[in-house]
Amino acid sequence: MLLYIHIPFCDSKCFYCSFNSYTNLFHLKSDYMKALNNQLQEELKKTNDHLKSIFIGGGTPSSIEAKLYDTIFLSLQNFINIDTEITIEANPNSTTLEWLTHLKFLGVNRVSFGVQSFNDQKLKFLGRNHNKEMALNSIQLAAQAGFRNINLDIIYDTAIDTEKLIKDDLEIIKTLPINHISAYGLTIEEGTKFFNRPEVKIENIDMASFIFASLAEFGFTQYEISNFSKNIKARSKHNFGYWEKEDYLGVGAGAVGCIGSQRYYPKKDVQEYIDNPFSYEDIEILNPEDIKFERIFLGLRSLAGVPLSLFNDKQKEKITLLLEEKKVTLEDGILFNNNFLISDEIALFLE
Ligand SMILES: C[S@@+](CC[C@H](N)C(=O)[O-])C[C@H]1O[C@@H](n2cnc3c(N)ncnc32)[C@H](O)[C@@H]1O
Ligand code: SF4
Repeated sequence: MLLYIHIPFCDSKCFYCSFNSYTNLFHLKSDYMKALNNQLQEELKKTNDHLKSIFIGGGTPSSIEAKLYDTIFLSLQNFINIDTEITIEANPNSTTLEWLTHLKFLGVNRVSFGVQSFNDQKLKFLGRNHNKEMALNSIQLAAQAGFRNINLDIIYDTAIDTEKLIKDDLEIIKTLPINHISAYGLTIEEGTKFFNRPEVKIENIDMASFIFASLAEFGFTQYEISNFSKNIKARSKHNFGYWEKEDYLGVGAGAVGCIGSQRYYPKKDVQEYIDNPFSYEDIEILNPEDIKFERIFLGLRSLAGVPLSLFNDKQKEKITLLLEEKKVTLEDGILFNNNFLISDEIALFLE
C-alpha cells in the first residue's frame, strides 16, 4: 500500500500548473492539517500493513511550518518501517534548514525540489518565484540536513529553451548532490495562464533525446519516460508502485486514492474538505478492461514493463510484430518498451 498526502497551498501560481493549489488560503492551514489528520486516521484503517511509500506533494508542502506535520507523523508511526520511502516536495523559495531538519527528524527520507531550470529568464517565463541561487542553496541545505535522496523536477519543451540553455542547466545538474531527476515536457493545461498561449510549448524530440542522453552520461538511468535515477536503490518506490497499479490511499483536498477497482476523490475545495474530510467528491468504479489498459499504458512507459499474461491473443500477434521491429523486448514473460518516447503510440497500437 502507498499513501499520497496533498498540501493545497502555494506562495504563487506558476503559469503552467493546474494542480489543486491556492495562494490565498493560508489562513486555513492549521484547520486543514487537522482535517487532513482526521482523514488520514480513517484511511489508515484500510490497511494492516506497513506502507511501502508515502508521498507528501502539492501544492507546496514547504509552505507549511514543519511543526504542523507532527500529528500526521504521530498517526503514521505504526505504519512506517525502515523500508518506507517518505518523500516530501519542497519549493526553493520556502525551504529552510530548520524545516528540512525537522522533517528529517519526523522520518522523511527523500526530498523533491521543484527547480524546473537554473536559468533565471526561464524561471520568470514559467512564472516561478525563485531564482537559480535559491534553487542551488536549497539543494545544498537538504544535503546539509542529511538527505541522501534528493530529486529535482525540471521542465523542457518550452519556447524559451535553446541548446545552450539546456546544456548550461545540464552542466549544473552534473555537479549537484542529487540522485534523481524528474524531467517533464511542458504540457498546456486548462485553467492555467499558459492555456491561451499554446505557443509557449515547442515539442522537440531531438532536444528531449539530448537531455536523456546527457543524463545517461552523468550516470542517471532512465527508468520511466520522465524519471532518471543514479542507481536502482534511488528509483522512487512510490512512482513504481503507481506504474505497477498498487493500491494507494489518497489524503487531502484534491488527492486521489485507488483501492482495487475503486478510485476515490476527496473534496477539492479546501473549506469543504475541512468541513468534511471524510466525504468524497466522487467514487469511480474502474472496469477490468480499464484497469488492464492503464496497467499496460503505465507499464510501457517504465521499466515496470507489462506481464505478457495481460495480453489477449490478438494483442500477442501485434507484439510479435513489435518484437520483430525491435521496438519492444521480452524478458522472463515481461514485455518492455525499448523507447519510452514512443510508449503512448505502442500502447495505442496494442489497444
Ligand atoms: C505537483 S508539482 C509540485 C511541485 C512543487 N510545488 C514545485 O513546483 O516546486 C510537481 C511537478 O510537476 C511538474 N509540472 C506541473 N505542471 C506541469 C506542466 N503543465 N507541464 C510539465 N510539468 C509540470 C513540475 O515540474 C512540478 O515541479
Ligand atoms: S508548480 Fe508547484 S509551486 Fe507552482 S503552482 Fe504548481 S504546485 Fe504550486
